[in-house]
Amino acid sequence: MKEVIKRWESHAEELTARFTPLGDPSREVLINPVLFKFLGSVDHKRILDAGCGEGYLSRILAEKGATVVAVDYSRKMLEIARKRTPKGYPIDYHHGNCENLDFLESETFDIIVSNMVLQDLPDYEKALNEMNKLLVRNGLLILSIIHPCFGTPESAWIKDNEGKRLYWKVDRYFDEVPYEQPYPPGAKNGVLLFHRTLTSYFRAIKSAGFTIEDLAEPSPSKEMIEKYPAFKDDWRVCHFLIFKLKKQ
Ligand SMILES: C[S@@+](CC[C@H](N)C(=O)[O-])C[C@H]1O[C@@H](n2cnc3c(N)ncnc32)[C@H](O)[C@@H]1O
Repeated sequence: MKEVIKRWESHAEELTARFTPLGDPSREVLINPVLFKFLGSVDHKRILDAGCGEGYLSRILAEKGATVVAVDYSRKMLEIARKRTPKGYPIDYHHGNCENLDFLESETFDIIVSNMVLQDLPDYEKALNEMNKLLVRNGLLILSIIHPCFGTPESAWIKDNEGKRLYWKVDRYFDEVPYEQPYPPGAKNGVLLFHRTLTSYFRAIKSAGFTIEDLAEPSPSKEMIEKYPAFKDDWRVCHFLIFKLKKQ
């Protein structure tokens, strides 16, 4: 098994324990509001959740009227996803690699959503080509990633002696290398990610045959800060980048 997936397998229980039906707090506060704005109505849509993890998004999409195919390369994640999915939900879970989605029929999905997955893939260009192939004409790909300008191999909060966050450090921006992220926090052998520049992402998106319809750098709403005050620092640094792409 690939090292990336081994790490997801080994942290799956711990990471998914903090998920509610809305995902983890980062998803609830920052990512979901943009995803749902970009998705629009999903009623009667056929959707692929590419890299579904424990499946919270697939379940929300199914509740909103979509028929969902959900793929993940981690069997452990899929086992958790299946356990959390009530009987009768129109979700078809598959074990598979987003870099090779040949087992799904071309041009059969209205929408693909790939939530925080692309930075896990060694061959992200292949994955974007595969996703393009699976979409109907004018189909949408909603893609969220770690913001490549802020999340780099050496990025972290720099703190003073009392632990107060002084600033966010970015370094090695142009090094397109795999790196380990301290996630789950404090874990030995955290998850492995692949850093790419914003230009590389832009070129890969374009050459796979997508146009960029919209783009968002999420920051928390005031209401979300009232619920989760710890997210105030997300008004200083942007951790995620979300694309709304259309198949040409
Ligand atoms: C950050 S999690 C995101 C999970 C889910 N989309 C969510 O938002 O909760 C990344 C997921 O991608 C999966 N993954 C990593 N590499 C993959 C690959 N090559 N093909 C399919 N899934 C992959 C991991 O197993 C993990 O479940």
